Amino acid sequence: MKAGFIRVFQCSSVASKMYRIALIPGDGIGKEVVPAAARVLEATGLPLHFVELEAGWETFQRTGNALPTETVDGLKKCHGALFGAVSSPSHQVTGYSSPIVALRRILDLYANLRPLVSAPVPGSRPEVDMLIVRENTECLYVKRERLEDDGDTAIAERVITRRASQRIARMAFTLAEQRQKSLVTIVHKANVLSVTDGLFREAALAVAEDFPRIPAEEQLVDSMAYRMILEPERYDVVVAPNLYGDILSDAGAALVGGLGLSPSANVGDDFVLAEPVHGSAPDIAGQGIANPIATIRAAGLLLAHLSEGAAAQAIEQAVQSVLADGPRTRDLGGKAGTEEVTEEVIRRLVSAD
Ligand code: NAI
Ligand code: MG
Repeated sequence: MKAGFIRVFQCSSVASKMYRIALIPGDGIGKEVVPAAARVLEATGLPLHFVELEAGWETFQRTGNALPTETVDGLKKCHGALFGAVSSPSHQVTGYSSPIVALRRILDLYANLRPLVSAPVPGSRPEVDMLIVRENTECLYVKRERLEDDGDTAIAERVITRRASQRIARMAFTLAEQRQKSLVTIVHKANVLSVTDGLFREAALAVAEDFPRIPAEEQLVDSMAYRMILEPERYDVVVAPNLYGDILSDAGAALVGGLGLSPSANVGDDFVLAEPVHGSAPDIAGQGIANPIATIRAAGLLLAHLSEGAAAQAIEQAVQSVLADGPRTRDLGGKAGTEEVTEEVIRRLVSAD
């Protein structure tokens, strides 16, 4: 198995207990890939109890609330969650706000960990093993936007705090300590945004001093996008404010097989909500052709965070094996559907026991 994937978390195999896992499929292909990943979780044989919760655009249309109180309360009673994706309109809708952005803040899931690892599929670049550590609670995603001048001027406030910047930098350096390459790249745009990105940079560089054995470097976000595409193999851990981390991780997914393969974990001090990097993909929703691998891998990250290292590794091994010579969905040039790929992952997972 490629290093770096499950190694996102320092996992050990402890005696398994009964885990309450929330499933929030959301909208679009979330409704297809979350049930698929839940079946893979079941196939690990771990004692899991699934709690189905709802959120998203359809929920909003039906109830007037995209994130019902029962969902937030239900999540708090679980050990972790698997989230699909929600459809958020690109225009303002009164009363609607993206539930995933809200959940990250409500549950204080301050780090969004997005591993990007070479895959045995056409188009994947070799020797890529990087981890984007995205700040998850602030930046422009605080959504303090307003219109002025009778609607002719739009203003967004960007919040960067020393506390959140230090916290995410500490997470990045701590994770780098567990990796072989051990390089932390601090991404910002402090040459232009000298106050907000200046504070992020200063806080991250101060944390770097506490980790003298880990080499640290800084890179402006625009040249980071360029260099990451030119030579992705040189990077290890990349830490960035919320928006830059979001953009870089979608771009990075294109280097290693695409959005259909890229998982992420929203992590706080005592909760993890795992999800694919991709969105609800309305263009392919309802056709049974979505690639379930990103969400299956997200389920693996969830287990790793729960210290179920052996089961997490087993899932990743089954995924790698299917990617190498099993059925592939259309985004990878194959003809298989969500169901067929999922069944094959389960078959290989179970037969490896
Ligand atoms: P997207 O990630 O949903 O789709 C981008 C492209 O990748 C599409 O062509 C889609 O068909 C393809 N794709 C994505 N996942 C795939 C998979 N598993 N298998 C095969 N192909 C896949 O991004 P887009 O189109 O920009 O956004 C669609 C909706 O998703 C929007 O309403 C957006 O707000 C929402 N979204 C939600 C997120 C979340 O809930 N965390 C994250 C990103 C977007
Ligand atoms: Mg994104």
